[in-house]
Order: sequence, then structure tokens, then C-alpha cells
Amino acid sequence: MSPLTILLLPFFFIIAISAQYKNSTYPNCPSYDCGNVTIRYPFWNTDSGSTTQFCGYEGINCSDNGKQNIPKISFGGDSYYVQSIDYELEIVFLVDYDVSPVSTVRDSCPRVRHSINLGTLPFNFSVFSVNLSFHFDCNGCPSFAMEITCLEQNDRKVCLDVMNNGTDESVWDAYLCDQEVVTTVIGEKMRLVPNLATGFGRVLEEGFELRSWGVDDCDGCEASDGRCGYRDSTGFVCFCMDGTTSKGDCKD
Ligand SMILES: *[C@@H]1O[C@H](CO)[C@@H](O)[C@H](O)[C@H]1NC(C)=O
Ligand SMILES: *[C@@H]1O[C@H](CO)[C@@H](O)[C@H](O)[C@H]1NC(C)=O
Ligand SMILES: *[C@@H]1O[C@H](CO)[C@@H](O)[C@H](O)[C@H]1NC(C)=O
Ligand SMILES: *[C@@H]1O[C@H](CO)[C@@H](O)[C@H](O)[C@H]1NC(C)=O
Ligand SMILES: *[C@@H]1O[C@H](CO)[C@@H](O)[C@H](O)[C@H]1NC(C)=O
Ligand SMILES: *[C@@H]1O[C@H](CO)[C@@H](O)[C@H](O)[C@H]1NC(C)=O
Repeated sequence: MSPLTILLLPFFFIIAISAQYKNSTYPNCPSYDCGNVTIRYPFWNTDSGSTTQFCGYEGINCSDNGKQNIPKISFGGDSYYVQSIDYELEIVFLVDYDVSPVSTVRDSCPRVRHSINLGTLPFNFSVFSVNLSFHFDCNGCPSFAMEITCLEQNDRKVCLDVMNNGTDESVWDAYLCDQEVVTTVIGEKMRLVPNLATGFGRVLEEGFELRSWGVDDCDGCEASDGRCGYRDSTGFVCFCMDGTTSKGDCKD
């Protein structure tokens, strides 16, 4: 053996050991392909067959829209299309299903029907988020907002405001709008369209991103290389690499 080989030998071992670790199987935590998205921990496939146990903390529903399998996630009473998941950076890219490119009622001038309510979801909006507020059935639009003519009915105005934290929301009182819906987009995607008042549908279709998943209850289990899940009979469980389960962590 050359001196160089001897020098490098420990590194080969470290690489081999970490590759083996990366390939660990977690028999209780299978992964699934759904459309273009791989569903794996900390997500789980709600249609995977088992209704008595799951591994992960957010369920994704994989269902056929007639053309392809569509991964969807539900929270706050609404459905979101899962465009992609970056497991390394812990980012999930979502699109309000109503305005998503896979929706069956696709429209270049979509009416957003609901705000995004994260509820108890263990995610946060990314720092690139920008909120858009749509105000429906108004008497007029304030000068800082734009009028969305393609959504208007019966002479009542629809206004779009790119929100920033400086806006005093009480300004809207004078316009007697019937409804406000706030939705979130990725700031830089607004540059895709020359005119937001006519191109907002394209920006909505790009969706928004949520980051930094993680639940406090799971810290100990994950720190011991376990994966958190749930079983009907026992409640919280920590699934270990070798297929065993624990009520706490995988240290023992
Ligand atoms: C990972 O494990 C699976 C099943 O145990 C095996 O088929 C596959 O070859 C392994 N991959 C690597 C890169 O070791
Ligand atoms: C998967 O990707 C292809 C090519 O980018 C795209 O045409 C298709 O709509 C995608 N499918 C889903 C379910 O997102
Ligand atoms: C998944 O979504 C489909 C269609 O929306 C629905 O029929 C099915 O019940 C859902 N499955 C689960 C487990 O929520
Ligand atoms: C992310 O959300 C959690 C609660 O879900 C909160 O405790 C935490 O402060 C948030 N982090 C950021 C950076 O906003
Ligand atoms: C956008 O609105 C949501 C609530 O719908 C809020 O949690 C979030 O902080 C807002 N984001 C920005 C950038 O103002
Ligand atoms: C929101 O307010 C914070 C501090 O109050 C400021 O640093 C930030 O630039 C503001 N953001 C916008 C979009 O105005």
C-alpha cells in the first residue's frame, strides 16, 4: 500500500459508514412516489393502506385527478397541491389547489376563495413570502391598490393590494368591500408578469413556500436518529432504524 492509501484509508471507512447510515431502511417509514413528488419522512402518505399507524407528522394525500397522481396536503380546511419538496433544505412548495396548474377548473383570472390558514401546521412561511390581499365587491379601489377588472361583476370593484406591514388596514373601511382574502406568493415570482393586475393568476400558480418543519415533541426521538409517528394503540411512537419502536427515543 502506498503511503497515500494508508493516509486516506480512515476516510474511506467514514464514507462507507455514513453511506450505510444514509441507506438505513426504517421498515415502518416507507417512501412513496406520487406524481413528481416523493413522499417520505416527515411526510407520510395518507392513502398508504395503514390507518392505524403512521410515520411522520404531516400527511399527504395522493389521488388521481383523471390524468395523473396529485399529491395534496390539507390544513385550515383547504387543499394545497404539493408542487415539490426539498428534503435537504426542509422546504415544501405548495399551491392553493383552486388556482394550481393541476386544478380541473384552470382559469387565467382565478378568484381566490380563501386565505391561507396554517392552523397547527408545524411550518412557517419563508422569508421570501409576500402577501396579496384581494378585496371583493368594493365601491372603488384606494390609490395604492390595483383594480382587477377581469374579476368584476355588476360595477362593483375588485382590488388587489401587495401588502407590506406599513399599510393601515383601516383605509379599506371607506370602500365598503364585502370580502377580503389574503394569499401568499413568492416575492420574486411577481417579476414573471409585466402587469400584476392582469397576470396575477400566473403568480398564484407558482404558489408559496413553507420552511423549517419540526415539532417540539419529536426532538428527543429525532436526536437519537428515530422518526416520530403515531399508533392508534399507543399514541406517540418513535420508529427506529432497525424496525423497533419506542415510546421515547432510539437510544436503548
Ligand atoms: C440500500 O438498501 C437497499 C435495501 O436494503 C439495497 O437494495 C440498496 O442496494 C442499498 N443501496 C446502497 C447505496 O447501499
Ligand atoms: C410532473 O412534471 C411534468 C414535467 O415537468 C409536468 O408536465 C407534470 O404536470 C408534473 N406532474 C405533476 C403531478 O405535477
Ligand atoms: C384523498 O383525496 C381523495 C380525493 O379528494 C379523497 O377521496 C380521499 O378520501 C382522500 N384520502 C384521505 C385518506 O384523506
Ligand atoms: C416558526 O413557527 C414556530 C411555531 O410553529 C415558531 O415557534 C417559530 O418561532 C417560527 N419561526 C420563525 C423563524 O418564524
Ligand atoms: C402573511 O399573512 C400571514 C397570515 O395569513 C402571516 O402569518 C404572515 O406573517 C404574513 N406575511 C408577511 C410577509 O406579511
Ligand atoms: C416590516 O417592518 C419591519 C420592522 O418593523 C421592517 O424591518 C421591514 O422592512 C418591514 N417590511 C416591509 C415589507 O415593509
